[in-house]
Amino acid sequence: MTQEEVSLEARLEEQESFDPPESFVEQANVSDPEIYAEFEDEWPECWERAADLLSWDSEYDTVLDDDDEPFYEWFTGGELNASANCLDRHVEEGAKNRAAIKWEGELGETRTYTYGELLNEVEAFAATLRDRGVEEDDVVTLYMPMIPELPIAMLACARLGAPHSVVFAGFSADALATRMNAAESEYLVTCDGYYRRGDALDHISKANEGLEGVEHEVSDVVVVDRLGDALTHSLADNQHDYDELVAEHAGASVEPVSRDAEDMLFLMYTSGTTGEPKGVKHTTGGYLSYAAWTSHSVLDIKPEDTYWCSADIGWITGHSYIVYGPLALGTTTMMYEGTPDYPTKDRLWEIIEKNRVDVFYTAPTAIRAFMKWGKQYPAEHDLSSLRLLGTVGEPINPRAWKWYYKHIGNEECPIVDTWWQTETGGMMITTLPAINTMKPGSAGPPLPGIDAQVVDAAGEEVEAGKAGYVTVDKPWPGMLRTLYNNDDRFLEEYWQEYSDPDADEWVYFPEDGAKIDDDGYITILGRVDDVLNVSGHRLGTMEIESAVVGVEGIAEAAVVGGDHEVKGEAVYVYAIPEDGYEGGDDLEAKAEDAINDSIGPIARPESVIFTPELPKTRSGKIMRRLLEDIASGNDLGSTSTLRNPEIVEEIAGQVEAD
Ligand code: WTA
Repeated sequence: MTQEEVSLEARLEEQESFDPPESFVEQANVSDPEIYAEFEDEWPECWERAADLLSWDSEYDTVLDDDDEPFYEWFTGGELNASANCLDRHVEEGAKNRAAIKWEGELGETRTYTYGELLNEVEAFAATLRDRGVEEDDVVTLYMPMIPELPIAMLACARLGAPHSVVFAGFSADALATRMNAAESEYLVTCDGYYRRGDALDHISKANEGLEGVEHEVSDVVVVDRLGDALTHSLADNQHDYDELVAEHAGASVEPVSRDAEDMLFLMYTSGTTGEPKGVKHTTGGYLSYAAWTSHSVLDIKPEDTYWCSADIGWITGHSYIVYGPLALGTTTMMYEGTPDYPTKDRLWEIIEKNRVDVFYTAPTAIRAFMKWGKQYPAEHDLSSLRLLGTVGEPINPRAWKWYYKHIGNEECPIVDTWWQTETGGMMITTLPAINTMKPGSAGPPLPGIDAQVVDAAGEEVEAGKAGYVTVDKPWPGMLRTLYNNDDRFLEEYWQEYSDPDADEWVYFPEDGAKIDDDGYITILGRVDDVLNVSGHRLGTMEIESAVVGVEGIAEAAVVGGDHEVKGEAVYVYAIPEDGYEGGDDLEAKAEDAINDSIGPIARPESVIFTPELPKTRSGKIMRRLLEDIASGNDLGSTSTLRNPEIVEEIAGQVEAD
């Protein structure tokens, strides 16, 4: 480094707050600081601003109906269709030839769909689904990787009023079956395979294996032929080729079904405290208006932008900020099929340069990987088209934030660190990019109209600097409505901890730890339940544990997260072999296979440690906290309250040696 570079790095390292550049503020969608006061004064009518970003078939009569708390309803009486909002209205308003989706495959092939073309394709596929018997309110499962047919299928479902349930393509066959069973879904759209690091990956075998585990009859499966000759596959009697069906319905016109604002738009299964995934239910009016509003106010998306969120559509981030939010605003949204280091570590920067991307939204785990690879990769590319950067999914450490700010944003782009969850539908805590000062490592204040705070175990707000828990007092349009077919679990998981039903006080508990500073900025500390955040992906420890104890020869297991430089958190498995079995490669491989089969490669453990005992309290509870500290290499402190303190050192020695 030159002397000048060294002093620049030093300055950046010390700087604790950053203001948005004037050039950004001048052009921003939302730049008046009064917005916070306005939302507070006008609550809940303030949320009409979100609803106003959409076209309604019939106007709603009530903004918020809170008669049956916490089963809130938004924009009741209103009717709309999500696919019409994402497609038809833009075409009618003259954007027919504007690119809606720009897709790049891993091997470098590209596809662009204009709004006009996307509408045609969605109508053809909606006609197909209708022909196969899909009716309003039927749940259609989509088990697909990052190919354009995934958003097309989502919008086709939305057009018919059939909720979709997207299952991340990296999930296992078992995970697919569990989700199809839970949603009683009779239709599946999937594909033959996709590319990963240059290899053609078989997906259809996994889908077929999953179908074997579905307990009800599956009437139809549609298979996209992504790989052509690179992978041959045969189709069963109820399986159909996507291209053939769509060709038969080319030119079809399918009227978008007017949906009640509160009708379900989609289901998304996510991990919780127990082994059974939770089916988060999102609605048409509230979710879509919230996704559009946050895309407008936080991501500053404009129709003429090329916008890129590098998440996978199989997670909520992709639903809200690759598909629904950006398309509702009529912008060009990018999709990339592959990995960021294929064929070279500058792949993402090349995509940004080639497409003149304006706004880029990614995860801290990716940024930490970019940092490790080195600044020379982005430096080879012209990234000057970028105006705004974002992060989501896990806390971002200040060093990674500053690296992103300097080496990707050239110190000219504000960064929004957006905290939210599958359940919240959209962003909740983040700076507004043209209004607030940024503080690396802290997400920022709650968005206007979001009544979030940090409280102690008794629900009292904590002092600045003290650790506590995030809670949200008032409802918001994008919130989940319930857990599918399970109102009781919905109440238990989110509303039990801090609400006081007798006093009619309802408080949403997201199960995250946090601190707040004197300016009201919230720093998220991570999950306080049994959920791990591995590379920004949410995994339930109980799901992993039940896979491991299913292995013959393993008696008991505890799964915890340990700190990881790039992934944020990594999976650590501690297991007790049954009598007559010994830990070792065979059992370790079996445990890894079991995790792979029940969840998928994303849950692959960093380490599987066999031990004759697990550290337990005198009352017999496994000391998970201690196991986490061992995995993270932290100081272990006193273990004198344990029933079996001697085991701790033995386990710690093994982890170190691993
Ligand atoms: C974590 C992803 C810190 C958090 C959108 C939350 C974050 C969980 C942030 C939800 C952030 C998300 N800073 N932590 N900016 N964003 N999280 O449902 O623990 O996959 O509860 O939704 O990710 O994960 P989910």
